[in-house]
Amino acid sequence: MFKSKILGLGKYVPENVVTNDDLSKMMDTSDEWIQERTGIQERRHIKKGDGNSTAIMGLKAAKQAIERANINKDDIELIVFATLSPDYYFPGCGVQIQEGLGIKTCPALDVRNQCSGFVYGISVADQYIKTGMYKNVLVIGSENHSGGLDMTTRGRHVSVIFGDGAGAAVLSRSDDDSSGILSTHLHSQGEYIDELSLRGPSTEKWVPEIIAEDPQEDIPYYPKMNGQLVFKNAVVRFSEVIHEGLAHNQLKKEDIDMFIPHQANLRISQFIQSKLGLSDDKVYNNIQKYGNTTAASIPIALTEAWEKGKIKKGDLVVLAAFGSGFTWGSTIIRW
Ligand code: UT7
Repeated sequence: MFKSKILGLGKYVPENVVTNDDLSKMMDTSDEWIQERTGIQERRHIKKGDGNSTAIMGLKAAKQAIERANINKDDIELIVFATLSPDYYFPGCGVQIQEGLGIKTCPALDVRNQCSGFVYGISVADQYIKTGMYKNVLVIGSENHSGGLDMTTRGRHVSVIFGDGAGAAVLSRSDDDSSGILSTHLHSQGEYIDELSLRGPSTEKWVPEIIAEDPQEDIPYYPKMNGQLVFKNAVVRFSEVIHEGLAHNQLKKEDIDMFIPHQANLRISQFIQSKLGLSDDKVYNNIQKYGNTTAASIPIALTEAWEKGKIKKGDLVVLAAFGSGFTWGSTIIRW
């Protein structure tokens, strides 16, 4: 059995900064409310005409990750792309990356696990590398939320949270047995499917039906979220899946050197931090600047933490996510 490790990391966020005050001009909200409930100060939104899309941002992050991994793009044997906001209904964004990178017929797989998408993607990549089937796998998380949010007071409890951006990692077979991905742990609970979802247009309710109904409330093409229920489940599941990962490797919470939580809400991250008893230098949050970028949040935060020199060789790094589905997961890494 082989081991995989993260060889290169990359990120991209659009230039257009949207502050809480900017949002309060579009809907009944305030900087005070948003900061108090979520910790978010600003986020990035794609601007019409800036040339970005979910796949294009993913491609930019991927190119940086490949360059930093110091490998050739043709060494990539599999692309795993996680998003809830693809450019096309089908096919998924993975094939756009294959084409954009110009890698000849390399397989591309799309992961539909929302906020847990990157952790699910890492797990898929890890399994392929462990079995020896592939040596280098590119995992991307990217989201264009701003294109599909209800930017009126009706949608404010969802719209103020989300931002656009992308992150990527190159996972490669590790030559050094003492470092790499130690384990990944995944879960889902479909009974909560409607608590955080975007129902349509879909085969259940296609475009003509929605146009004919012309709904004014509970609009199927905007995301719907039961924020308090999501929050309550998130704090429990984050904690559970981190402890599951630590126990699997005979490790304790005191062994964690860097915890990178999915950037759902700063209050959720702080709650988990206090339950784990971690000091501020052992947790990396950047939701203040980028909002919740769903599948992109962990790779953006991981890349930024690494760029700032906060992750060193030998560190125990823990990634954990929770989101729509519900789905959740963790990754335990010896850097
Ligand atoms: O990453 C995927 C997973 N998602 C999450 O993890 C999100 C988890 N949930 C949350 O982060 C929080 O539930 C929210 C930040 C989304 C909402 O915070 P909350 O404390 O649960 O607020 P709430 O929805 O219960 O609303 C409280 C009040 C309501 O007013 P009344 O009924 O008390 O008068 C809302 O109408 O705040 C109002 N409200 C707002 N006010 C100003 C809701 N959204 C806003 C807003 N600005 N943007």
